[in-house]
Amino acid sequence: MKQRLEGKNAAVTGASSGIGRASAIDLAKEGCNVALIARDIDRLNETAAEIEKLGRRAVVIQADITDSEAVKAAVETAISELGSIDIFHCNAGIYLRCAVKDLRMDQIRKLMEVDYFGCLNCVYAVLPHMLERGCGHIVTTCSMDGKKGVPPDAAYVGAKFAMNGFFQVMRQELRGSGINVSVIYPSRMDTPQIRHVDCPGITPKGDPDMVGRAVVRAVVKNKGEIMVPWFSCKLLVLAEAISYRFSEWLIRVNHLSGTENGEEAINEAQ
Ligand SMILES: NC(=O)c1ccc[n+]([C@@H]2O[C@H](COP(=O)([O-])OP(=O)(O)OC[C@H]3O[C@@H](n4cnc5c(N)ncnc54)[C@H](OP(=O)(O)O)[C@@H]3O)[C@@H](O)[C@H]2O)c1
Repeated sequence: MKQRLEGKNAAVTGASSGIGRASAIDLAKEGCNVALIARDIDRLNETAAEIEKLGRRAVVIQADITDSEAVKAAVETAISELGSIDIFHCNAGIYLRCAVKDLRMDQIRKLMEVDYFGCLNCVYAVLPHMLERGCGHIVTTCSMDGKKGVPPDAAYVGAKFAMNGFFQVMRQELRGSGINVSVIYPSRMDTPQIRHVDCPGITPKGDPDMVGRAVVRAVVKNKGEIMVPWFSCKLLVLAEAISYRFSEWLIRVNHLSGTENGEEAINEAQ
């Protein structure tokens, strides 16, 4: 079968784990060479090995997305190794589950630093390259928490709402420039980020590959927004459109906050 992104070059942040890893592999399955960006070199090398098995090139680049100079250098390395970046998936992020009354300002700032400003470091590193070429596609992993806030995620929700707003405006401003912008809104996915959270039966954790495939679809079909999974996410959005009381009642009666299962949280803003 013809690969839909044959010959394209992609870069994915957070490619050492979960959704980023799935997205990098799904982009490679569709014909992309992929630059893999994160901090953990060993886990990036594992993703690279999977991509090389598919007959595609993988370039491993160690960078912390909160360091704008390191992100610029990562983008330069990806361009010099692959020749260009056609698709950039801003995906890396952290999570924090903490009630508002217990949150500290330094935790909230850390969330913004990684999930919002870290994402924008990537946008501003790659945008000049795409503008110069007059083409490209920027995709970000937002969250359903960027559409409707669910407790006890206030700090994370704040960062994801900020990201959602920025990308909505960027998509409109870049219309006609040859650069497309997509936002993916996953519900809960089975990745290390939320291994300490059990979800109710009505919204079980999904396979991160669902998000990887949504990234491919966003690029191939130029979809500005994709919710994953579509049906349950759309119901919540429709409920919110009717009344915030209705959506918040649905969150309460369906226990959408989930429960902690005693596993240690990793990659959190401690
Ligand atoms: N899992 C879910 O239910 C869910 C739902 C909606 C949205 N999301 C979003 O999806 C994205 C991926 O999350 P995931 O669930 O796949 O979590 P994950 O398995 O914990 O992966 C997070 C990735 O982000 C990278 N990362 C974290 N901080 C970084 C930093 N400062 N610099 C560079 N890389 C960094 C990590 O790599 P290193 O540690 O190697 O740097 C890792 O590859 C996040 O933006 C998350 O908010 C997740």
